[in-house]
Amino acid sequence: MMLEGLLVDLVPLNKPFRELEHKWRNHVASWWASGGEWPITTKAALERQQAEWLEWKSNNEGVRGVPFGIQTKDGQPLGYFGINWIAEPHRLAMLGAKIGEPEYWGGGYGTDALLLLVDYAFDWLDIRKCWLMTTSMNDRVQRQMEKVGFMFEVRQRKGALAEGKWYDWLAYGLMREEWPGRAAMLEKLGLEARVKA
Ligand SMILES: CC(C)(COP(=O)(O)OP(=O)(O)OC[C@H]1O[C@@H](n2cnc3c(N)ncnc32)[C@H](O)[C@@H]1OP(=O)(O)O)[C@@H](O)C(=O)NCCC(=O)NCCS
Repeated sequence: MMLEGLLVDLVPLNKPFRELEHKWRNHVASWWASGGEWPITTKAALERQQAEWLEWKSNNEGVRGVPFGIQTKDGQPLGYFGINWIAEPHRLAMLGAKIGEPEYWGGGYGTDALLLLVDYAFDWLDIRKCWLMTTSMNDRVQRQMEKVGFMFEVRQRKGALAEGKWYDWLAYGLMREEWPGRAAMLEKLGLEARVKA
């Protein structure tokens, strides 16, 4: 399955993405994505994790998460974008994102992808709430949350240590009834006009 956006598409996390994951894991993008952690991941460890994930998937019918690869319209893999974890009884979807190519940060790619992902979660998976956590040092995510209409819900004070400084964990949430739909959001944010310009 592929979710088609204006600047990016969300596609199955197939081989080209799995091969690049080693580079992205060992990149500063991971520091941002984890809120200050950036451990060295060996290829062997990553292969083990990927094999465990595939095995889990083949042995289980439930949906634990829905990972997508994010790629440009001409097919360049940029990173991971997806639902990390679904709490099935509550229909809660925890989202996560990591664009591993920093020259694509701040250019609207992540927002385009987020609109696709949220629409998919509500419309296809019947999720009732999407949520995520970030840290107070991550201005890009905070700006994105504000743009896309997530509500700031929880501040866990000084829960993340990054380069010797303490930052707060921030949780954001969006209920299905608050979501006007992707088309309305594209219009509100003027994204089609921005892409054509
Ligand atoms: C988080 C991430 C997916 C967002 O995607 P993106 O393509 O960079 O986001 P967008 O460009 O759509 O939106 C970011 C907004 O922040 C703004 N921004 C960029 N740098 C900023 C900065 N240093 N301070 C404040 N705002 C900033 C952008 O201008 C944009 O707002 P605008 O559309 O009003 O101009 C991407 O940056 C990423 O993968 N970063 C590294 C990993 C990470 O942080 N993951 C998230 C963990 S919760």
